[in-house]
Amino acid sequence: MNNRSEFSSKLGFVLAAAGSAVGLGNIWRFPYLAAKYGGGLFVLIYILFVVTFGFTVMMVEIAIGRKTKLSPIGAYRALNKKFGFIGIIASLVAYLILPYYSVIGGWVIKYFVTFLTGGAAATAEDGFFVNFISAPIQPIFWQSIFVLLTFAVVLRGVKDGIEKASKILMPVLVVLSLGVAFYSFSLPGAMEGVKYFLIPDFSRFSIQAVLAALGQMFYSLSLAMGVMITYGSYLSKNDDLEKSVKQIEFFDAGIAILAGFMVIPAVFAFSGGNEEALNAGPGLMFVTLPKVFNTMGMSSVIGGVFFLLVLFAALTSAISLMEAAVSTVCDQFKLSRTKSAVIIAITSIVLGIPSSLGNGIWSGFKVLNMAFLDLMDFITNAVFMPVGALLTCIFVGYVIGTKVITDEIKSSSAFKREKVFTVMIKYIAPICIIAILISSILSAFGLIVL
Ligand code: PFF
Repeated sequence: MNNRSEFSSKLGFVLAAAGSAVGLGNIWRFPYLAAKYGGGLFVLIYILFVVTFGFTVMMVEIAIGRKTKLSPIGAYRALNKKFGFIGIIASLVAYLILPYYSVIGGWVIKYFVTFLTGGAAATAEDGFFVNFISAPIQPIFWQSIFVLLTFAVVLRGVKDGIEKASKILMPVLVVLSLGVAFYSFSLPGAMEGVKYFLIPDFSRFSIQAVLAALGQMFYSLSLAMGVMITYGSYLSKNDDLEKSVKQIEFFDAGIAILAGFMVIPAVFAFSGGNEEALNAGPGLMFVTLPKVFNTMGMSSVIGGVFFLLVLFAALTSAISLMEAAVSTVCDQFKLSRTKSAVIIAITSIVLGIPSSLGNGIWSGFKVLNMAFLDLMDFITNAVFMPVGALLTCIFVGYVIGTKVITDEIKSSSAFKREKVFTVMIKYIAPICIIAILISSILSAFGLIVL
């Protein structure tokens, strides 16, 4: 398409793609996974995956987008007529993630507003979180606000919406993260937490830790959901792809590590390194942290700043999910951006409602022992995402051939890691993805414990 929008600069693209990558996955999920799987050891495995496997898949997706200048379905189809279905899977996953991601985004807004209006002590009370998420109306209200904020940015388009928002939100996010991390460091007893987080304990090595790191890497880098293809399609033909991908990964891993610095030392200082506090899992951010902030003084300020930065991170990720869906609807159904965005926003609010109610009045509805939100998370991340990624590797490695991609990359700059790239995409990546897929399905059926 000749008149496709483009990012106005390489920086704009890198910030938007990093905005997609840096999200709830970094700040909410990464610290509790690291806490669960041996601290520094998990961080090390994670980084290894990011620079090998993550690098490869992200290069492929951005190159496919830039080469075809199309949204995912059209992009795969343009490369091979029979393979448009991979794009369908990818766009569908993005479309299905957005609703439940927005439910959690809504919780973040609620916490931010509560801290802002002097309710810090209330958030630290037992039952605050559960009472809030199980209510029928309130979480849906906040979820809708979150979708509307996302919509407001996407509606303005690539340059004036996504790029501008990322250029403001991402630098602020970095500054706020540094501020909270320094605060967390300054707490008495925090150093023990820093050590726990950074020093690898090899005795805690396990296959589970490896698989968790692999799954987290995919989710955190926004891979296999059509997002990077979509953003790549707005990238100018002159930009150095390898450098951009390295910068995006640096951002993503950097904020994940900073999030660990914000959360783990604070929890250590609060609990004296009590394993139970660290193993709070998903509740770490919404239940444990407010208690930590509350005991440490300055809770309104630190809590408010913390949830604001989480909100920014979540918003830029939701923007990318909505954009992937909107650009697909625009291209496939030849609708205007405004019409597509309205359709996606309204249906996202509606589709998010079961994920919200599943924590309360619909909690009796469970599949594989999972509430609706967890079920959506499982289907998208543990099933469709690996399937999409595997198909992409096979498609590039064996159907169109790696040369199509490497030529696209080399059309604008040298490709230093071409050899690693080729070996990864043809051999190592598919095997790793099959391992994630099998293990997550087995664990969902209770056959192994992850
Ligand atoms: N990468 C985001 C995070 O870490 O929270 C989540 C995400 C955004 C996943 C966009 C997938 C995606 F396409």
